[in-house]
Amino acid sequence: MGADRIAFVQGASRGIGLELVRQLLETGAASRVIASCREPDRATKLQSIAAEHMPRLTTLAVDVSEEATIAEAATRVGQVTDKLHFILNVAGVLHGEGFGPEKRLSQVRPEVLKTVFEVNAFGPLIVAKHFSSFLRHDDRSIFASLSARVGSISDNRLGGWYAYRGSKAAQNMFTKTLSIELGHVARNTIVVGLHPGTVDTGLSEPFQGSVPKEKLFSTKQSVEHLLAVIDGLTPQDTGKVFAWDGSEIPP
Ligand SMILES: NC(=O)c1ccc[n+]([C@@H]2O[C@H](COP(=O)([O-])OP(=O)(O)OC[C@H]3O[C@@H](n4cnc5c(N)ncnc54)[C@H](OP(=O)(O)O)[C@@H]3O)[C@@H](O)[C@H]2O)c1
Repeated sequence: MGADRIAFVQGASRGIGLELVRQLLETGAASRVIASCREPDRATKLQSIAAEHMPRLTTLAVDVSEEATIAEAATRVGQVTDKLHFILNVAGVLHGEGFGPEKRLSQVRPEVLKTVFEVNAFGPLIVAKHFSSFLRHDDRSIFASLSARVGSISDNRLGGWYAYRGSKAAQNMFTKTLSIELGHVARNTIVVGLHPGTVDTGLSEPFQGSVPKEKLFSTKQSVEHLLAVIDGLTPQDTGKVFAWDGSEIPP
């Protein structure tokens, strides 16, 4: 393990975020990890990783749809460091209590659009607002948000999934816009979106029936791919979206 390289991972209670925390610690890619989720005290898997890796993992409560919790987390992070090397936005919603992805226009509901956009699109942007000061240093750093191939406008052949597709397309635009601003003030930060593949988590569970077995990744496989992609990113990649295999996903 080299110099102090600190990661902030938001959306770490389960699924891809939990595995990112585990692998960042186990591979030594990060010397320390600050992981957030809505209810850290109830995130038992995250707490057991924290116990195993004490004192390298600390947890914070953040609900990405509540700006005050993001601001409070940034204040707490500022009490222990002025530099971050990774900011990884993982939290995402596709379905929840009483809603799922829309098959057709008649299923579109404003309150669902609001919830999904708040987490998937606004979340990473508001994290950037409060955390970008931690990226103003001379070391290489990464600001990555978990996106999805279905957020690509040019790749949209099937339609449907209005809220999820729209929120990830908006997220991708925020990624690009943020990359331009950070290009002026945090010159060594690479800002990207990342598509993890189809991954065996609660988010994909209701839709796994149509996915061939070899195309459904475990969280372990997906995160191994994502960390390899992150490792290979160059300054020219900033503002773009990449899939798990390193290929660029067109807007
Ligand atoms: N799985 C896939 O096949 C797939 C494919 C493409 C893209 N992705 C993207 O990958 C990311 C991770 O997905 P996943 O499959 O790991 O999903 P998951 O297992 O359902 O986990 C979702 C995470 O988001 C968190 N979250 C939801 N709403 C939140 C909020 N308001 N504030 C803070 N955290 C919140 C959840 O925390 P709580 O425990 O607090 O609910 C949980 O940690 C998402 O952005 C998703 O869109 C996944």
